[in-house]
Amino acid sequence: MKSSGNKILITGATSGIGLVLTERFLEMGNAVVGVGRRTETLNPLREKYPDLFPFACDLGSAHGPDELVLHVKQQHPDLNVLINNAAIQYNYHFLEAADIPARAAYEINLNLTVPVQLCALLLPVLRGQQQAAVVNVSSGLALVPKKSAPVYCGTKAGLHLFTKALRYQLEGSPVKVFEIIPPVVDTPMTAGRGSNKLSPAQLVDEFVRAFANDRFEVNIGKVKLLRLISRLSPALADRILKNG
Ligand SMILES: NC(=O)c1ccc[n+]([C@@H]2O[C@H](COP(=O)([O-])OP(=O)(O)OC[C@H]3O[C@@H](n4cnc5c(N)ncnc54)[C@H](OP(=O)(O)O)[C@@H]3O)[C@@H](O)[C@H]2O)c1
Repeated sequence: MKSSGNKILITGATSGIGLVLTERFLEMGNAVVGVGRRTETLNPLREKYPDLFPFACDLGSAHGPDELVLHVKQQHPDLNVLINNAAIQYNYHFLEAADIPARAAYEINLNLTVPVQLCALLLPVLRGQQQAAVVNVSSGLALVPKKSAPVYCGTKAGLHLFTKALRYQLEGSPVKVFEIIPPVVDTPMTAGRGSNKLSPAQLVDEFVRAFANDRFEVNIGKVKLLRLISRLSPALADRILKNG
Protein backbone atom coordinates (compact mmCIF):
# COMPACT_ATOMS: atom_id res chain seq x y z
CA MET A 1 0.00 0.00 0.00
CA LYS A 2 1.38 3.42 -0.81
CA SER A 3 2.54 5.35 2.27
CA SER A 4 1.88 8.89 1.09
CA GLY A 5 -0.81 10.67 -0.89
CA ASN A 6 -3.63 8.87 0.94
CA LYS A 7 -6.63 10.44 2.63
CA ILE A 8 -7.04 8.49 5.85
CA LEU A 9 -9.89 8.45 8.37
CA ILE A 10 -8.62 7.53 11.85
CA THR A 11 -11.13 6.92 14.65
CA GLY A 12 -9.78 7.59 18.13
CA ALA A 13 -7.29 10.07 16.68
CA THR A 14 -7.37 12.27 19.79
CA SER A 15 -5.29 10.08 22.13
CA GLY A 16 -2.80 7.22 22.45
CA ILE A 17 -2.14 5.04 19.41
CA GLY A 18 -4.57 6.95 17.16
CA LEU A 19 -2.90 10.29 17.89
CA VAL A 20 0.56 8.94 17.04
CA LEU A 21 -0.80 7.25 13.88
CA THR A 22 -2.33 10.62 12.93
CA GLU A 23 0.92 12.55 13.36
CA ARG A 24 3.02 9.92 11.58
CA PHE A 25 0.74 9.67 8.56
CA LEU A 26 0.61 13.47 8.31
CA GLU A 27 4.43 13.64 8.47
CA MET A 28 4.59 11.06 5.66
CA GLY A 29 2.51 13.26 3.34
CA ASN A 30 -1.03 12.00 3.86
CA ALA A 31 -4.22 13.87 4.72
CA VAL A 32 -6.01 12.69 7.88
CA VAL A 33 -9.63 13.01 8.99
CA GLY A 34 -9.12 12.68 12.75
CA VAL A 35 -12.19 11.52 14.68
CA GLY A 36 -12.93 11.52 18.42
CA ARG A 37 -15.13 13.29 20.93
CA ARG A 38 -12.34 15.60 22.19
CA THR A 39 -11.00 17.07 18.95
CA GLU A 40 -9.57 20.03 20.90
CA THR A 41 -6.49 17.81 21.39
CA LEU A 42 -6.01 17.86 17.59
CA ASN A 43 -6.49 21.61 17.10
CA PRO A 44 -2.89 22.58 18.05
CA LEU A 45 -1.63 20.30 15.25
CA ARG A 46 -3.63 22.05 12.55
CA GLU A 47 -1.20 24.93 12.17
CA LYS A 48 1.65 22.52 11.47
CA TYR A 49 -0.45 20.15 9.32
CA PRO A 50 -2.98 21.86 7.02
CA ASP A 51 -4.03 18.38 5.80
CA LEU A 52 -5.46 17.46 9.22
CA PHE A 53 -9.26 17.59 9.32
CA PRO A 54 -10.56 17.01 12.87
CA PHE A 55 -14.15 15.81 13.12
CA ALA A 56 -15.85 15.69 16.52
CA CYS A 57 -18.12 12.67 16.78
CA ASP A 58 -19.37 10.37 19.53
CA LEU A 59 -19.21 7.00 17.82
CA GLY A 60 -20.95 5.39 20.79
CA SER A 61 -24.10 7.46 20.24
CA ALA A 62 -27.03 6.28 18.15
CA HIS A 63 -26.39 8.63 15.22
CA GLY A 64 -22.59 9.08 15.51
CA PRO A 65 -21.51 6.61 12.80
CA ASP A 66 -24.14 7.87 10.33
CA GLU A 67 -23.09 11.49 10.93
CA LEU A 68 -19.46 10.57 10.29
CA VAL A 69 -20.30 8.71 7.08
CA LEU A 70 -22.41 11.62 5.80
CA HIS A 71 -19.54 14.02 6.57
CA VAL A 72 -17.07 11.82 4.65
CA LYS A 73 -19.36 11.50 1.64
CA GLN A 74 -19.94 15.27 1.52
CA GLN A 75 -16.48 16.61 2.46
CA HIS A 76 -14.01 13.79 1.73
CA PRO A 77 -15.25 11.71 -1.21
CA ASP A 78 -11.56 10.99 -2.02
CA LEU A 79 -11.12 9.01 1.24
CA ASN A 80 -9.11 5.85 0.51
CA VAL A 81 -8.09 4.49 3.95
CA LEU A 82 -10.25 3.73 7.00
CA ILE A 83 -8.49 3.01 10.31
CA ASN A 84 -10.87 1.64 12.95
CA ASN A 85 -8.89 2.40 16.12
CA ALA A 86 -11.34 3.87 18.70
CA ALA A 87 -12.24 1.51 21.53
CA ILE A 88 -12.69 1.32 25.28
CA GLN A 89 -11.76 -1.31 27.79
CA TYR A 90 -13.85 -1.90 30.92
CA ASN A 91 -12.46 -4.16 33.62
CA TYR A 92 -15.11 -5.79 35.82
CA HIS A 93 -16.08 -9.11 37.36
CA PHE A 94 -19.39 -10.70 36.36
CA LEU A 95 -20.10 -11.75 39.96
CA GLU A 96 -19.38 -8.34 41.42
CA ALA A 97 -20.17 -5.50 39.03
CA ALA A 98 -23.47 -3.66 38.75
CA ASP A 99 -25.19 -2.70 35.50
CA ILE A 100 -23.29 -5.25 33.39
CA PRO A 101 -25.77 -5.45 30.48
CA ALA A 102 -25.58 -1.72 29.76
CA ARG A 103 -21.79 -1.54 30.10
CA ALA A 104 -21.31 -4.63 27.95
CA ALA A 105 -23.68 -3.34 25.28
CA TYR A 106 -21.78 -0.03 25.08
CA GLU A 107 -18.40 -1.78 24.85
CA ILE A 108 -19.59 -4.28 22.22
CA ASN A 109 -21.11 -1.48 20.16
CA LEU A 110 -18.07 0.80 20.17
CA ASN A 111 -15.41 -1.91 19.82
CA LEU A 112 -17.10 -4.26 17.35
CA THR A 113 -20.40 -3.07 15.89
CA VAL A 114 -19.17 0.42 14.95
CA PRO A 115 -16.04 -0.78 13.09
CA VAL A 116 -18.17 -3.31 11.19
CA GLN A 117 -20.73 -0.57 10.34
CA LEU A 118 -18.03 1.87 9.21
CA CYS A 119 -16.55 -0.81 6.94
CA ALA A 120 -19.95 -1.48 5.41
CA LEU A 121 -20.96 2.17 5.04
CA LEU A 122 -17.61 3.42 3.73
CA LEU A 123 -16.76 0.56 1.35
CA PRO A 124 -18.67 2.28 -1.50
CA VAL A 125 -16.33 5.28 -1.09
CA LEU A 126 -13.16 3.18 -0.66
CA ARG A 127 -13.76 0.84 -3.58
CA GLY A 128 -14.11 3.82 -5.92
CA GLN A 129 -10.42 4.72 -5.39
CA GLN A 130 -7.46 3.21 -7.25
CA GLN A 131 -5.80 1.95 -4.05
CA ALA A 132 -7.64 1.64 -0.76
CA ALA A 133 -7.34 0.00 2.65
CA VAL A 134 -9.22 -0.84 5.81
CA VAL A 135 -7.10 -1.14 8.97
CA ASN A 136 -8.70 -2.61 12.10
CA VAL A 137 -6.93 -2.36 15.47
CA SER A 138 -7.57 -5.50 17.51
CA SER A 139 -5.36 -6.74 20.39
CA GLY A 140 -3.20 -9.61 21.60
CA LEU A 141 -6.19 -10.22 23.88
CA ALA A 142 -8.12 -11.25 20.77
CA LEU A 143 -5.90 -14.34 20.68
CA VAL A 144 -5.53 -15.17 24.38
CA PRO A 145 -7.89 -13.55 26.93
CA LYS A 146 -7.31 -12.03 30.34
CA LYS A 147 -9.63 -12.58 33.31
CA SER A 148 -10.37 -8.96 34.14
CA ALA A 149 -11.91 -7.86 30.82
CA PRO A 150 -14.05 -10.63 29.29
CA VAL A 151 -16.23 -8.39 27.12
CA TYR A 152 -13.27 -6.42 25.77
CA CYS A 153 -11.49 -9.69 24.89
CA GLY A 154 -14.67 -10.95 23.21
CA THR A 155 -15.02 -7.79 21.10
CA LYS A 156 -11.38 -7.95 19.98
CA ALA A 157 -11.64 -11.66 19.13
CA GLY A 158 -14.73 -10.81 17.07
CA LEU A 159 -12.92 -7.97 15.30
CA HIS A 160 -9.94 -10.27 14.60
CA LEU A 161 -12.04 -12.90 12.81
CA PHE A 162 -14.24 -10.30 11.10
CA THR A 163 -11.10 -8.68 9.68
CA LYS A 164 -9.75 -11.96 8.36
CA ALA A 165 -13.04 -12.92 6.69
CA LEU A 166 -13.46 -9.41 5.23
CA ARG A 167 -9.95 -9.75 3.76
CA TYR A 168 -11.10 -12.94 2.01
CA GLN A 169 -14.21 -11.18 0.62
CA LEU A 170 -12.26 -8.20 -0.71
CA GLU A 171 -9.52 -10.23 -2.44
CA GLY A 172 -9.34 -9.03 -6.03
CA SER A 173 -10.90 -5.64 -5.17
CA PRO A 174 -8.87 -2.39 -4.76
CA VAL A 175 -9.42 -2.56 -0.96
CA LYS A 176 -6.68 -4.22 1.12
CA VAL A 177 -7.57 -5.29 4.65
CA PHE A 178 -4.99 -4.88 7.44
CA GLU A 179 -5.10 -5.73 11.13
CA ILE A 180 -2.87 -4.24 13.82
CA ILE A 181 -2.53 -6.65 16.75
CA PRO A 182 -0.88 -4.69 19.59
CA PRO A 183 0.60 -5.92 22.86
CA VAL A 184 0.28 -3.69 25.97
CA VAL A 185 1.02 -0.14 24.83
CA ASP A 186 1.70 2.89 27.01
CA THR A 187 -1.44 5.00 26.47
CA PRO A 188 -4.24 6.45 28.63
CA MET A 189 -6.09 3.12 28.17
CA THR A 190 -3.44 1.27 30.19
CA ALA A 191 -2.63 4.03 32.72
CA GLY A 192 -1.79 2.52 36.09
CA ARG A 193 -1.48 -1.07 34.88
CA GLY A 194 0.90 -3.31 32.95
CA SER A 195 4.69 -3.14 32.76
CA ASN A 196 7.30 -3.18 29.99
CA LYS A 197 4.83 -1.38 27.79
CA LEU A 198 5.59 -0.60 24.17
CA SER A 199 5.44 3.09 23.23
CA PRO A 200 2.81 4.11 20.66
CA ALA A 201 5.67 5.39 18.47
CA GLN A 202 7.29 1.90 18.41
CA LEU A 203 3.95 0.38 17.43
CA VAL A 204 3.50 2.90 14.63
CA ASP A 205 7.09 2.29 13.39
CA GLU A 206 6.28 -1.42 12.99
CA PHE A 207 2.90 -0.81 11.42
CA VAL A 208 3.99 1.69 8.76
CA ARG A 209 6.65 -0.77 7.56
CA ALA A 210 4.04 -3.53 7.31
CA PHE A 211 1.56 -1.19 5.58
CA ALA A 212 4.12 -0.26 2.91
CA ASN A 213 4.95 -3.94 2.34
CA ASP A 214 1.38 -5.26 2.22
CA ARG A 215 1.82 -7.42 5.32
CA PHE A 216 -1.81 -7.61 6.26
CA GLU A 217 -1.88 -9.23 9.72
CA VAL A 218 0.55 -7.15 11.76
CA ASN A 219 1.64 -8.77 15.02
CA ILE A 220 3.31 -5.98 16.99
CA GLY A 221 6.19 -6.49 19.46
CA LYS A 222 5.53 -9.24 22.01
CA VAL A 223 2.44 -10.46 20.14
CA LYS A 224 4.86 -12.31 17.82
CA LEU A 225 6.16 -14.26 20.84
CA LEU A 226 2.62 -14.79 22.14
CA ARG A 227 1.61 -16.39 18.85
CA LEU A 228 4.64 -18.70 18.95
CA ILE A 229 3.93 -19.76 22.54
CA SER A 230 0.24 -20.28 21.68
CA ARG A 231 1.24 -22.66 18.91
CA LEU A 232 3.76 -24.61 21.02
CA SER A 233 1.81 -24.61 24.30
CA PRO A 234 -1.67 -23.05 24.36
CA ALA A 235 -1.94 -23.79 28.10
CA LEU A 236 1.22 -21.80 28.81
CA ALA A 237 -0.06 -18.85 26.77
CA ASP A 238 -3.32 -18.96 28.76
CA ARG A 239 -1.41 -18.95 32.07
CA ILE A 240 0.75 -15.99 31.02
CA LEU A 241 -2.19 -13.82 29.94
CA LYS A 242 -4.87 -14.91 32.44
CA ASN A 243 -3.99 -12.44 35.17
CA GLY A 244 -2.42 -9.85 32.87
N1 LIG B 1 -3.09 0.50 24.87
C1 LIG B 1 -2.97 -0.82 24.74
O1 LIG B 1 -2.25 -1.49 25.52
C2 LIG B 1 -3.70 -1.55 23.65
C3 LIG B 1 -3.41 -2.91 23.48
C4 LIG B 1 -4.09 -3.60 22.48
C5 LIG B 1 -5.00 -2.95 21.68
N2 LIG B 1 -5.26 -1.63 21.87
C6 LIG B 1 -6.24 -0.99 21.01
O2 LIG B 1 -5.67 0.15 20.42
C7 LIG B 1 -6.70 1.11 20.13
C8 LIG B 1 -6.31 2.46 20.68
O3 LIG B 1 -6.19 2.35 22.09
P1 LIG B 1 -5.36 3.38 22.98
O4 LIG B 1 -4.59 2.58 23.94
O5 LIG B 1 -4.68 4.35 22.11
O6 LIG B 1 -6.57 4.07 23.78
P2 LIG B 1 -6.82 5.54 24.30
O7 LIG B 1 -5.57 6.30 24.47
O8 LIG B 1 -7.75 5.39 25.45
O9 LIG B 1 -7.60 6.21 23.08
C9 LIG B 1 -8.87 5.76 22.72
C10 LIG B 1 -9.38 6.63 21.59
O10 LIG B 1 -10.72 6.20 21.28
C11 LIG B 1 -11.56 7.34 21.23
N3 LIG B 1 -12.91 7.06 21.67
C12 LIG B 1 -13.30 6.44 22.82
N4 LIG B 1 -14.62 6.46 22.91
C13 LIG B 1 -15.09 7.09 21.80
C14 LIG B 1 -16.38 7.44 21.31
N5 LIG B 1 -17.50 7.14 22.02
N6 LIG B 1 -16.48 8.09 20.14
C15 LIG B 1 -15.37 8.44 19.44
N7 LIG B 1 -14.13 8.14 19.84
C16 LIG B 1 -14.00 7.48 21.00
C17 LIG B 1 -10.92 8.35 22.19
O11 LIG B 1 -11.26 9.66 21.78
P3 LIG B 1 -12.20 10.67 22.63
O12 LIG B 1 -12.01 10.37 24.08
O13 LIG B 1 -11.72 12.01 22.17
O14 LIG B 1 -13.59 10.37 22.16
C18 LIG B 1 -9.44 8.10 21.97
O15 LIG B 1 -8.96 8.89 20.89
C19 LIG B 1 -7.98 0.52 20.72
O16 LIG B 1 -8.69 -0.17 19.72
C20 LIG B 1 -7.46 -0.47 21.74
O17 LIG B 1 -8.38 -1.50 22.01
C21 LIG B 1 -4.63 -0.91 22.84
